[in-house]
Parts: sequence; C-alpha cells; structure tokens
Amino acid sequence: MIPILNLTRQYEQLKDKIDQALIRVAASGHYILGPEVSEFEREMASYLNVKHVIGCANGTDALYLALKALKIGAGHEVITSPFSYMATSESIARAGAKPVFVDIEPDTMNFDVQKLEAAITPHTKAILPVHIFGQAVNMDAVNRLAESHHLSVIEDCAQAIGSEYKAQKVGGLGDIGCFSFFPSKNLGAFGDGGMCTTNQDDLAERLRMLRVHGSRKRYYHEEPGLNSRLDEIQAAILRIKLPHIDEWNHARQAVANHYDALLKPLADVLQTPYRSPDSQHVFHQYTIQLKGPNPAQLRATLQQQLQEAQVQSMIYYPVPLYAQQTHADLNLNKVDYPVCEAVSDRVLSLPMFPELRLDEQEQVVNTLAQALKGTPIHA
Ligand SMILES: Cc1ncc(COP(=O)(O)O)c(C=O)c1O
Repeated sequence: MIPILNLTRQYEQLKDKIDQALIRVAASGHYILGPEVSEFEREMASYLNVKHVIGCANGTDALYLALKALKIGAGHEVITSPFSYMATSESIARAGAKPVFVDIEPDTMNFDVQKLEAAITPHTKAILPVHIFGQAVNMDAVNRLAESHHLSVIEDCAQAIGSEYKAQKVGGLGDIGCFSFFPSKNLGAFGDGGMCTTNQDDLAERLRMLRVHGSRKRYYHEEPGLNSRLDEIQAAILRIKLPHIDEWNHARQAVANHYDALLKPLADVLQTPYRSPDSQHVFHQYTIQLKGPNPAQLRATLQQQLQEAQVQSMIYYPVPLYAQQTHADLNLNKVDYPVCEAVSDRVLSLPMFPELRLDEQEQVVNTLAQALKGTPIHA
C-alpha cells in the first residue's frame, strides 16, 4: 500500500532522540507548560522570526484564542476562505462571530483577494486568510485592505509552517498566526498541539492569559478563556523535529517536482498544482485538479482504481464550508461561490510526505495513467 502519508519513516530517522526525550519528560515530573514548552516557544520564535510564540492544545484552539485575543465575538464578521478544513470557520462561529466567505482562485485555491473588498461591511472585524495546502495567500493585498479598513488579520497557517511569502515566513505577516501540530502536519507532534504567533506584546499577553482560563495570576480570572495548554511531551518532540523542518519541506518540494514531471503526459486530463511566484509552497498536500466535463464522476472511478492498486488518495475538501450543516443558519447559496464549487469537484490529493520514494511516485502516476488512459506511462 502506498499511503497518503507515512509517519513511521520520520520516527525511524529520529527514534533515538525521540525515545530519550520521552523518557526525559517522564522522569522530570513536569508535564504541562513547563521548561520544554518555554524552550520550544523560544526556538520556534527564532525560526519564524516572530517576537512571541504561545503554545496551545491544538490548531482549532489557536484560531479561537486569536479571535478572543482580538475581542472578536457577537455582532462581528470575519472574512475567510470557504475552501479549508472545518476548524477555520467553526472557530469564528464558536467565538460568536459570523464567518463571511469569499470565493477562491482556481489555481492557488486560496481565497481570491480581488473579491475581499466587496465582502467588507461595517461589522467586519478581521480577515482570516488560510494558506491552503502550504501555499501562502497574497498577503500584501490582504494587509493593504486590512489597513485601509482598520481590520485585524489572523493567518491560518495550520498547513503552511515554513512557507514564505516574499521571503517572509507565514505566521508573522498579520496580527496573529495560528498553527497546528496535528501529527499529519508538516511539523507534527505525537498527539494534538498548536500555537499562536504574534509580534505584538499586548496580544501575546492576552493569548497567554486566555489559554489558562483567562488568568494572568493563578486563581484570579478576568474573562472566560480556555484550558488550552501544550504539554511537555509534545513540546519535547517538536523541539527535536523543528531543526529538520526546512529539510523536510525541501524534500516535499522535490517530491512535488517529480510528480510534476511524471504527470506531464497527462496534462490534457489533469492539472498539477500551481506555484505562485510570491510564495514558497511547502506542499502539505500535492493536489491535482481533474479536467473535463464530469470531474466528480471521473474522480470516484479513479479513486476506486487507485484503491484497488493499493494507492491511497484523498479528497481535500469535498464539501465547502458554506455548504456544511454547521453553517446552515447562515443560509448561504453555492451559486455565490462558483469557483469553489467547481474546484471541490475536481481536486484529488496524492500521497505526499518527505520520505516518499521515486519508485513509489512512479507507481502512483502509472496507476493514474492506467486509469485515465488505459496504459501506464512510465516503465
Ligand atoms: C487549515 C486548517 N486550520 C485549522 C486546523 C485545525 O488544527 P487542529 O487539528 O490542530 O485543531 C487544521 C487541521 O486540522 C487545518 O488544516
């Protein structure tokens, strides 16, 4: 089986260090928000070139904490992408605000910055760009608008750690950056984990307060917060992995380049991922788009044939956020998001991880070619 993701190959590389770290933390007697977390926050701040890193329990909480830190809630609107994981817009709703979706670009699959301004109302408080699949949004356009309309910017960087926009790492490009260390992410823990990043001292203080039940001083609570702490074992593992993130992201880029080359003969039936010239894509996913009049039907057949040939593939995302039951109260209409509708029917993500071998990629592409053209294209 060629899985969409294999996490054990990475563990094998770092096994000795990780095993030692697990034992070190177990013996330390300190398990939550201790020295490993503090060191991790410091090292991560240096890697991302941001002033503050605030570890928390997961990426979903990071988004919620960011919204609460910016005092966004009932009566407010937050503009975001409909082509993302549920956590993005769910967090806006959880904070009591209204998610406002703008349609996406057909190539990057990020929200279309040309359509942002029309979505701004007197209730808009923030723009929440999602760097989907690891490719940065056009942040100059987002920040220009945010500045002129006095809006905050929260980056959803869950899929994009290490990705750059105009040579600056994502997470430091808005007011607050939100990251996930879910095991499948480019930098993954051995359980849940997340963090917020910011260059603003007051926001960092609020984020630290909110992650421990709205408390700056133990047992004195100033507003409802969360129990959203990063634990020592996750921080220790992340500290071991962090020095490798650039090397792993480069390996992902090499895998993507190989796929691009291997898939060239199929250019009439599928589109390989677009690279924005301003962004350093870190390929959290390698997502192709099927061409033709009935892509969803073709995709279903294709996935079946891939499965039979022991190749795993995934659809990220089959249902856009405006069409989720969670947001039924918003009464949104899919006709307002024609690009997202079309893209959701066309996308298919192929196996992608730094340790994926060339022979495995050839097998993936041959299976695709066999299914689409009736013949493999690489011997
Ligand atoms: C774009 C995006 N935002 C937010 C999240 C939420 O992160 P977590 O699963 O750590 O809560 C994820 C991943 O799951 C994601 O892909």
